[in-house]
Amino acid sequence: MKLLILNGVNLNLTGKREQGVYGSESLESINRELEAFAAAHGHTAVCKQTNLEGEICTLIHEAEGKYDGIVLNAGAFTHYSYAIRDAIASVAVPVVEVHMSNVHAREEFRRKSVLTEVCRGEVLGFGKNSYKLAMESFWL
Ligand code: DQA
Repeated sequence: MKLLILNGVNLNLTGKREQGVYGSESLESINRELEAFAAAHGHTAVCKQTNLEGEICTLIHEAEGKYDGIVLNAGAFTHYSYAIRDAIASVAVPVVEVHMSNVHAREEFRRKSVLTEVCRGEVLGFGKNSYKLAMESFWL
């Protein structure tokens, strides 16, 4: 399987920002681990990050026919981006929503995701392992 691991706004600062919430490991380091995790199971992971909402939509459009699935941490876009929601609904490639933190144990605005309804499933609260559990959902 070929999976796209797609991170959205502010996730490039993982390891630097709010370390008590997101840990001290950089996104680059997490991504290398996710690529190795996929390879160890006979699969391929391609990791991308952008702070731009429209670019996430474009990457989702372009994933059609190229990837078997998308593991998406849209960051704060999760809570209000109808554009990303519609992009997910517009393609056949399945998307699993991911959050490193337990968004339900945080601020009220984080409890609402406008994406979950159009995703295959959701994994949250397990730090970088949220990505791994979401990846496993494609091959288990
Ligand atoms: C996040 C949770 C979001 O609420 C937040 O805006 C993020 C990261 C997470 O991985 O826990 O940027 O998606």
